[in-house]
Amino acid sequence: MTEDALRDDADHHFIDIERLNTATLEQLLHRAESFLGPDQLRRHRRRLFGETIALLFYEPSTRTRISFELAGKRLGADTILFHDTVSSARKGESIPDTLQTLIAMGIRYFVIRHGENGIMSRLASNLPDGVSLINAGEGTRAHPTQALLDALTLRFHRPEFPLLTVAILGDIRHSRVARSTAFILEKLGIGALRLVAPPPFLPDSTDPMPGDRLSHIETGLAGADVVIALRVQWERLGEGEISISKSEYQHAYRLNRATFERLTKPDAILMHPGPVNWGMELDPDLIQHPGNLIREQVHNGVAVRMAVIDWLRESYFAQRAQ
Ligand code: CP
Repeated sequence: MTEDALRDDADHHFIDIERLNTATLEQLLHRAESFLGPDQLRRHRRRLFGETIALLFYEPSTRTRISFELAGKRLGADTILFHDTVSSARKGESIPDTLQTLIAMGIRYFVIRHGENGIMSRLASNLPDGVSLINAGEGTRAHPTQALLDALTLRFHRPEFPLLTVAILGDIRHSRVARSTAFILEKLGIGALRLVAPPPFLPDSTDPMPGDRLSHIETGLAGADVVIALRVQWERLGEGEISISKSEYQHAYRLNRATFERLTKPDAILMHPGPVNWGMELDPDLIQHPGNLIREQVHNGVAVRMAVIDWLRESYFAQRAQ
């Protein structure tokens, strides 16, 4: 595939994994690896010199917000943090009007987190040429940079994707991470993907999300090379919406070190997008487990977000050169 075709595929925004092809994903992962080197600060600070990245978070975040801010700064950009609680959003200004206001100040990169499914595509469709939107977490639908950093982290330790069995364990139905990570693992040729959760937390049977649905943790994790555990999104659940209590969930699905070591392969890997509710989905005895890559995922998040921003920058200049 040509560079031009790859750029067309990215569409000048970064909205979800589904619309990216495998070659584009490989190139983004390769670019992220290049940003993990020891002299990255010295080498890359002029790439986005003079640009400003606005971070608009309509939902809480620690990892994604701060790693995007670091990524922008390490590429030489200024970063602006928009707080909806102290902005004119409180006076009724809509998100499209907010974006147009910031565009009028010369901002061309927008990193957005919002709870509404589908909002990223709608916002992107009304942006002028040369302005890029990056999805930093959208409802229950997509968290594409988390998927990229999951794939990058896993690849460092287990590059043989076609031979791997990955189990995603937890509240899959309400998890934007699970959805994006399932799609990226499928596109990168993972051997087997299992979605393991109690029935209320499994995706609908009509949902195209890849992966075999399993409700029993014993069969779901048996022989797995990788377990990606998820937080239960209790805050997304309406009163009486889910027929499982916190104590029932903990009893049947909380993973501890003994169960992890008994069910999975001897050198299995444990991942989690964070934040972890220790004691709910994972027992604290897994914090020191040698297969625990949770901190490494966080570390790789900065390089992945640098890669996405840099990819969009390059796309912009390629478009202008035509
Ligand atoms: N994984 C993740 O998105 O974490 P934050 O909500 O802290 O950004």
